[in-house]
Amino acid sequence: MSEKEIIVVEGNNVLSGEVRVSGAKNSALKLIAASLLGQGASTLHNVPLISDIVVMSEVLECLGATVERDGHTMVIDTAQVTSRETPYELVSKMRASISVLGPLVARFGQARVAMPGGCQIGARKIDMHLVGLEALGVEFTVDHGYLNAHTPNGLHGADVTLEFPSVGATENCLMAAVTAHGTTCIENAAREPEIVDLANMLNAMGGKVSGAGSSIIQVEGVPLESLHPCEHTTVGDRIEAGTFLVGGALTGGPVTVRGIDPSYLHMAIMKLRAMGCCVEAGEDWITCSRNQPLQPTDIQTLPHPGFPTDLQAQFMLLCSLAHGTSMVTENVFENRFMFASELARMGADITIEDHHALVRGVNDLQGTDVSSTDLRAGAALVLAGIVAEGETRVHNIKHIDRGYEDYVGKLDLLGADIERVT
Ligand code: EPZ
Repeated sequence: MSEKEIIVVEGNNVLSGEVRVSGAKNSALKLIAASLLGQGASTLHNVPLISDIVVMSEVLECLGATVERDGHTMVIDTAQVTSRETPYELVSKMRASISVLGPLVARFGQARVAMPGGCQIGARKIDMHLVGLEALGVEFTVDHGYLNAHTPNGLHGADVTLEFPSVGATENCLMAAVTAHGTTCIENAAREPEIVDLANMLNAMGGKVSGAGSSIIQVEGVPLESLHPCEHTTVGDRIEAGTFLVGGALTGGPVTVRGIDPSYLHMAIMKLRAMGCCVEAGEDWITCSRNQPLQPTDIQTLPHPGFPTDLQAQFMLLCSLAHGTSMVTENVFENRFMFASELARMGADITIEDHHALVRGVNDLQGTDVSSTDLRAGAALVLAGIVAEGETRVHNIKHIDRGYEDYVGKLDLLGADIERVT
């Protein structure tokens, strides 16, 4: 993919049909890191073909693992892992590389990981990761932008209380606790479905984790040598699913997403219904359609099971075309409204006050050149182009490729007039 590649989409269109979502990016990245604990060849299925997964694979290879891909299946052999260092050039590409910190200290008692920087949506600090790991016996020093972790007295079970239910901090503490001596209790843990997926894989490797999905996770430490490789299937991507459902809500649909557990999207489904959509769901599918005017609603992004911040931009787009005024409040990240300024260039009427966005519905949007600021904003801008008047050209689409497998292909399948152009 060239840096100059853009997505060109024709407006005034309707999305309808069925699309299968890929495996969850925000689970698969951590499952790959967790394979370090298996000390052999673990097999992951339903791994999405996205650039963030390529970077995480490079991180594992940099540590000495071998990674083989066959479509959506990945075999990661960590038997020969010797290095404990994750270099800056990889961490700077993808800050989620910090997820190797927990498994490296669990396996080797040490790690040297480049400090992740911030990104467009916020500072993305890791203080809670460090506080939690210190409670488990990890000691940190920092030199030249690298975090050095070591465990002079080994890892020991502890009561870890997170001041915020951070997804990444929960995951790093969870993976470190698996081999700590004694029992660990993580309080105020993140409850995202991807945490449950990670806990299931750790248990399949011989770990003893309970309570994942609730705010209190218990881990009974086991000896490292008792852990073994496993075979695991990544859960469906709830954010990708929600993105396509918004496409159905925007254009009328019906759009069906398959390969997703509807229980992961309770809040988003509730909001779609509140905005006038008809949403039906089965065991592994959800259908969204609309045949009445979009109604305004208020949205507060919160940790799961609250409204997901990763669907905020997509719903702000919906609100921008509703018959009335909506308030969107972003409580998770400090700078996740840049999408609003791009949408305003298409004719949306949005006023930002601190972490609130007042969205006054307009009758239509106009296609133009817009630029992605993060992967969710980019995905939402493409959806905006599908309903806008005329042609929209979305730039900076490398953000989209980080987290959406074949986004253009799937939208084309649903009837969009869309293409990637260099
Ligand atoms: C994960 O990021 C996801 N990324 C994000 O998805 C998602 O938006 C986020 O969870 C919340 O659901 C991956 O899983 C790779 P956090 P993470 O730790 O783990 C602050 C996407 O679009 N914080 O729950 O980094 C932090 O700055 C991405 O797919 C601290 O201050 O999220 C943020 O404001 C975007 N100190 C808030 O907490 C810490 O030590 C939530 O962060 C940790 C976090």
